[in-house]
Amino acid sequence: NKYVPPHLRNSQGSGGRTSDSVSDGRGGDRRDSYSDRRGDSGGRGGYGGDRRGSYGDRRGEQGRRGQSRRNARGFHGDLKEDPRTQARLFGRDDHQTTGINFDNYDKIPIEVSGDDVPDPIETYSPETIGDDLFRNTQLCGYSRPTPVQKYSVPICTQGRDLMACAQTGSGKTAGFLFPIIMSMIKRGGSDPPENARRRIYPEALVLAPTRELAQQIHEEAKRFTYATGIASVVIYGGANVGDQLREMERGCDLLVATPGRLVDLIERGRLGMESVSFLVLDEADRMLDMGFEPQIRRIVEESGMPGGIDRQTMMFSATFPANIQRLASDFMRDYVFLTVGRVGSASKDVTQTVEFVEERDKVDALMKFLLTIQDGLILIFVETKRSCDYVEDVLCGQGFPACSIHGDKSQREREDALRYFKNGNTPILCATSVAARGLDIPNVTQVVNYDLPSNIDDYVHRIGRTGRAGNTGAALSFINESNSGVVRELRDLLDENEQDVPPWLNQMCQFSGGRSSGGGGRGGGGRRGGGGGGFGSRDVRSKGGNDRGQGG
Ligand SMILES: Nc1ncnc2c1ncn2[C@@H]1O[C@H](COP(=O)(O)OP(=O)(O)OP(=O)(O)O)[C@@H](O)[C@H]1O
Ligand SMILES: [Mg+2]
Repeated sequence: NKYVPPHLRNSQGSGGRTSDSVSDGRGGDRRDSYSDRRGDSGGRGGYGGDRRGSYGDRRGEQGRRGQSRRNARGFHGDLKEDPRTQARLFGRDDHQTTGINFDNYDKIPIEVSGDDVPDPIETYSPETIGDDLFRNTQLCGYSRPTPVQKYSVPICTQGRDLMACAQTGSGKTAGFLFPIIMSMIKRGGSDPPENARRRIYPEALVLAPTRELAQQIHEEAKRFTYATGIASVVIYGGANVGDQLREMERGCDLLVATPGRLVDLIERGRLGMESVSFLVLDEADRMLDMGFEPQIRRIVEESGMPGGIDRQTMMFSATFPANIQRLASDFMRDYVFLTVGRVGSASKDVTQTVEFVEERDKVDALMKFLLTIQDGLILIFVETKRSCDYVEDVLCGQGFPACSIHGDKSQREREDALRYFKNGNTPILCATSVAARGLDIPNVTQVVNYDLPSNIDDYVHRIGRTGRAGNTGAALSFINESNSGVVRELRDLLDENEQDVPPWLNQMCQFSGGRSSGGGGRGGGGRRGGGGGGFGSRDVRSKGGNDRGQGG
């Protein structure tokens, strides 16, 4: 009874796959399409792109900015539409398509707080998002804005700072990229700073916590900036820095970066922050937690980045604990706080189940479960890098087509694993939390928490790798006594999402020392709104006075 990966079930009849053929599959037939894709991410003639030659040509055009010549809008990218680029960026069918519940996004209650909040847009049209973006949304197949986009576009294009919280998979990326692109087009590229050195001076900076997420945001940015003249570049650790520098020198108006590599290049004097007028922290609560905060301060406060009215700051996440909101306000000015649903709530499009499994029984339970899955990609989260390798090994040994991704792997290995997973060569991916946030992989139908995370927000992000853009998904979590610290919050989350709560879980909660929902530990309110006001956790500044509630 061997597991047959979904993509082989039709093409190879009943033929199962052994672990040997799995490893063959890793070098499989879709590799070519990846090289094509690299050409995309390289943008104007990227690493594998067909216009490589143009790099040498343009080198001599670099001006004071250390970048290639500016176009009519004052940026460094392509302004002209081009059928080949267009086909490359939009032609593939490996993008997420919206699911049956997409329209239900409009039923999620929205709360906006702050002074003089502009009205939301209701549609995509040349009037609401401009000609360039309207064309690009059509090419992307976006027919209407998601709630977070409806609000973020007018709020950010009017120059306001924004802290936005909306559930996983509901389009936050476009939520920050659209208004930045609109504002940049409207304003035009700015001159390099006075006494500029031969550095690269991006005007918009998007920071993301992982390399793979930075790459993904950049790929989205390539589509949204298509033929706008704005050049997007991505930099992240673990990859060749020379290649990334050359890419930036060809023109870099919008930079997507992981903090480590960015600090490195600032310190080497290759990048200047003086022209950054748009700053985004995606997964902002993660970017401001203990792991990243020092680097963020270094970038935002000690690198010459403009402050005050000369910079607009946007922060996005599906979760935003109150203490991190307070910290975040250090970087914001008179910001608008937007929540779609409750801060930290899980996507209702994910069916969540829990199973009591002792540590020693987990492998068997996992394999038994995998055999019941008929279709789609399966993402398995474990707590440590070691157990990640272990679970992958056991699965492969038993003939399951699995690969793994975690922080001790080389960047090459990480990207390979993700690629084989995405294209279905290894439809099972074992991962640590490095893959928990932001990744948008079509056809992930099942998330498994082999180990439950110790923090409920991590749980929300992990299960959010499925059930995206209105598609449905499922999440299974193995639970035992070692998870007592998080079971209450999990029980409350299941309750909130109208999921089954087995009696043993309620019992565990009674005996656990974990935080209870009414305690208001996170977000300054109870998990489900102690006051009965719909959702409890909200803008840390608000005392309930200036909120503008809005249903449907
Ligand atoms: N208006 C829209 N119409 C159709 N699809 C959309 C729209 N906006 C975004 N999408 C698609 O929805 C998917 C999820 O978007 P995105 O990755 O931005 O979600 P997110 O809110 O950032 O999630 P996460 O919290 O996991 O980071 C993407 O595949 C994106 O292309
Ligand atoms: Mg995101």
